[in-house]
Amino acid sequence: MTLDLEAKKVLLRKIPHGIFICTVREGDEINGFTASWVTQGSFAPPLVVMAVRSEGSSHGIIQRTNQFSLNVLRADQKELAAVFFKPQKGLGGRFEAAPYNFGENGLPLLEDAIGGIECNVVGNVANGDHTVFVAEVISAKLNADGDPLILSDTGWSYGG
Ligand SMILES: Cc1cc2nc3c(=O)[nH]c(=O)nc-3n(C[C@H](O)[C@H](O)[C@H](O)COP(=O)(O)O)c2cc1C
Repeated sequence: MTLDLEAKKVLLRKIPHGIFICTVREGDEINGFTASWVTQGSFAPPLVVMAVRSEGSSHGIIQRTNQFSLNVLRADQKELAAVFFKPQKGLGGRFEAAPYNFGENGLPLLEDAIGGIECNVVGNVANGDHTVFVAEVISAKLNADGDPLILSDTGWSYGG
């Protein structure tokens, strides 16, 4: 049986996703990108799962540092999400649009977001054009609770 590519695309695009800003840091360098392939993977310890494009500029930083943060955007922050997937002027350039502080573990956390978590990578699967990282949540900062930005509300798609 061959895979029905059209059915595969339609069905995989039905998987609901949020939209997050993933941030990374290596020494003095920081970077961030929009990520939607994110889910929780365990209650105890609290694990999250995120897939990162192998050719993305944050991929190597996550591999080398074993850390990343995920910032949860509000429903009205679609424009900011767009900044973080468009080309940027040099590594970290996207943060001109997004003031940040460093979290307890040194990762950039956006000041204007619902909140952010810092994570330590505990495992990965590199078997395609994205690497799936599994990571333990080691800090959580809630700025102001609210409705999150959801992929299906943006008209964008990433998947299939
Ligand atoms: C809606 C949307 C969701 C995305 N989700 C992911 C994702 O989960 N993982 C990923 O690696 N890239 C994802 N991307 C792509 C990255 O945001 C984009 O490739 C970005 O430019 C990568 O950062 P870089 O330019 O620093 O490599 C997504 C893009 C869009 C438009």
